[in-house]
Amino acid sequence: MTSSTLSAATRDIAYQLHPFTNLRRHEAEGPLVITGGHGIYVTDEAGREYIEGLAGLWCASLGFGEERLVEAATRQMRKLPYYHQFASKAHDIAIDLAERLISLLPVRMSKVFFNNSGSEANDTAVKLVWYYNNARGRHRKKKIISRLRGYHGITVASASLTGIVTAHRDFDLPLPAIRHADCPDYYRYGKPGESEEAFATRMVESLEAQILREDPDTVAAFIAEPVMGAGGVILPPRTYFDKVQAVLRKYDVLFIADEVICGFGRTGSMFGSETFGLAPDIVVMAKALSSAYLPISATAISEEIYQALLAESDKIGIFAHGYTYSGHPVCCAVALETLAIMKERDLVGHVQRVGPRLQAGLRRFADHPLVGDVRTVGLIAGVELVKDKATHAQFDPPGSVGAVFVARAQAHGLILRNLQDTIALCPPLIITETEIDEVLRRFQYALADTASALAR
Ligand SMILES: Cc1ncc(COP(=O)(O)O)c(C=O)c1O
Repeated sequence: MTSSTLSAATRDIAYQLHPFTNLRRHEAEGPLVITGGHGIYVTDEAGREYIEGLAGLWCASLGFGEERLVEAATRQMRKLPYYHQFASKAHDIAIDLAERLISLLPVRMSKVFFNNSGSEANDTAVKLVWYYNNARGRHRKKKIISRLRGYHGITVASASLTGIVTAHRDFDLPLPAIRHADCPDYYRYGKPGESEEAFATRMVESLEAQILREDPDTVAAFIAEPVMGAGGVILPPRTYFDKVQAVLRKYDVLFIADEVICGFGRTGSMFGSETFGLAPDIVVMAKALSSAYLPISATAISEEIYQALLAESDKIGIFAHGYTYSGHPVCCAVALETLAIMKERDLVGHVQRVGPRLQAGLRRFADHPLVGDVRTVGLIAGVELVKDKATHAQFDPPGSVGAVFVARAQAHGLILRNLQDTIALCPPLIITETEIDEVLRRFQYALADTASALAR
């Protein structure tokens, strides 16, 4: 029997190990096999269409059928399908992209280093921070503070930064130099009667106490997503980042902004750092940089960091970091075309125009007995389902009701993500107002189905 006589689902179970999947359940239930896409829609092997309400994994910003990206890749494949950038080689397209990114970033950055994924970009950030402090003779200043429920990737260093227990458990992580600070989720951790600002102050006092406990001479950097994505779509409480940045400056701690989800328009500005007033020393970008059509990520560093790397590479003789595919020319071409399309179509302006429709539509569900909190900015949102609206009590086990919700949404042709009962929405940025209304309609059906399932 040739493998092609078996269904795709059977062959999938036979041959693939799936990322972030319950392996036993996957064997029993099999995959949803997606075979095509256009606009905000993807199509399964049976020809059913779904709205991709999370743009894949928060990434396909231009949707699933942008011909110009296909053409840009094809053109570059014909011209120069591959070249590397080791040992002072370069190619025109990576130079163009680096220059473009430096011009777009909201804070003055000196250099861009290319990688292939968000995880790798964060690994690069970690290594550069260590190298930087070795260059400065600060050999003890190596700890990196991330936040509980932050998501920064899944390679050894980036999974260590990720503040989600399942990313560590039985993988022998986190690495010893990584620490986790409190998660600034006002809805879940705010005390009764505590204002958002007072909560932010408490979170930052706790961060400062942690830095002091660790010894500031050993703390090198702090990493944060402007909006926490996979941890539950958590918006920073008002005044939080201003206060955080004051503490980081006080103790000479670098600030790494993980813009992997927020970058390139998602929050209604080009970068989440603009939306929330961040002035980072390192900016990490991926996902929407190429609308996810090809894998590429970037780690941008300040001039001060660059000068230290320069000095250290003098001393050692080489800056020995890099990947075979760093700045892959085809990926760079697609990224440049993505940025050109964003500019021509004013996609940042588009997010500002249509985002409020999604936000207002979701807020209308706030009165529903299952909905505890609606968090949203630009075209990203999290709707938290709770057992008890008054006490914010979670379902037992957490995530169980969100799983029912996303299954029902999928049955209604809407793919969403369940993050421990927070339903995440992050549609392609090209979504229209009519399509947003359709998302909201399907969302409402899923909510009604979930409520009926619970009532049974
Ligand atoms: C904020 C953030 N950083 C880093 C990553 C890791 O990116 P990748 O999956 O491309 O390694 C992700 C992935 O979702 C992310 O959301």
